[in-house]
Amino acid sequence: SRQWRGVLHEYADRLGITEATPVVTLGEGGTPLIPAPALSARTGAKVYIKYEGMNPTGSFKDRGMTMAISKAVEHGAKAVICASTGNTSASAAAYATHAGITAAVLVPEGKIALGKLSQAIAHNAQLIQVQGNFDDCLDLARDLAANYPVHLVNSVNPDRIAGQKTAAYEVVEVLQDAPDFHLLPVGNAGNYTAYSRGYTEELERGVTTKLPRMFGFQAAGSAPIVLGEIVRHPDTIASAIRIGNPASWELAIAAREATDGYFGAISDEHILAAHRLLSAEVGVFVEPASAIGVAGLLERSDAGVISAGSTVVITVTGHGLKDPQWALRTEDGGEVTPTIVPADAAEVAGVLGLQKAA
Ligand code: F0G
Repeated sequence: SRQWRGVLHEYADRLGITEATPVVTLGEGGTPLIPAPALSARTGAKVYIKYEGMNPTGSFKDRGMTMAISKAVEHGAKAVICASTGNTSASAAAYATHAGITAAVLVPEGKIALGKLSQAIAHNAQLIQVQGNFDDCLDLARDLAANYPVHLVNSVNPDRIAGQKTAAYEVVEVLQDAPDFHLLPVGNAGNYTAYSRGYTEELERGVTTKLPRMFGFQAAGSAPIVLGEIVRHPDTIASAIRIGNPASWELAIAAREATDGYFGAISDEHILAAHRLLSAEVGVFVEPASAIGVAGLLERSDAGVISAGSTVVITVTGHGLKDPQWALRTEDGGEVTPTIVPADAAEVAGVLGLQKAA
């Protein structure tokens, strides 16, 4: 038996990794593909969850970051920069510090989850809160990388997309073919693009018999691709995907066409209902944005597009512990308060509704 070595070592040949690349890894990838009987029962489809919260910093970003930071170090970079709604900054901070270089991260002021902010600070990033939204942060990061000695590690860097496509390889390895549908959240559409590439490569290698139909979901208040226009003031509780001008917009449109795919918008209410369903019935804890693919499954299944018997993979992108507050909200917006009892067995049994054994 051996330990999983991270995506650059595991897929070195397919990512063009040679001795020349100093691999910076925290053991990312190799995440579980979890059958979800509760979702299969609701839809009649065979539903699997690709749980990307199991990566070292708790999101799929680590697959792209191991590649981007390794290549940055190979090219002699001493500092990297990114814009982020939180997860990219957490990942960039961890991989940069592991490599012994500096990370500067630009985040929208007051708009990223506490867990993610804490990660970036814990990993010693230079964290800057910008008085603007994510799209403003990305414009700044691109500007700085173009004019100063700092290497851009947002997904406009092709190394990020290359690393992230390994998730599709892993799905194919488990299922022994591509699924019929692959559903995932869309912000900048980098991950949507990455999965499409990974699946396309697998088909070209003759390992699979088809491309999955790629279905991407945006929050209704931040759905530029669905609307076909930039959203100036994107708004949603799913802070990870609060993005009005996606960086990989054109690539994503091309991938949708190539895979007979789809982009849909989901209300915050349905995102939170899917979040609850994943936690309470599947046993998988995610941050709100990550639940959107499950909401998309229910909607597309109701619409008759995803039919019974189909194989469906849903990527859930980030861990629930990054942004746990949503679990403590009731359906009607109230606050959950766990019951308090004295330290007494009979009292506890009473609350639990247990009868004493005869
Ligand atoms: N899910 C989560 C949890 C994310 O953090 C992101 C993006 C996405 C989905 C969307 O992925 O941008 O490739 O379409 N987060 C970026 C960040 C923007 O800064 O962490 P995408």
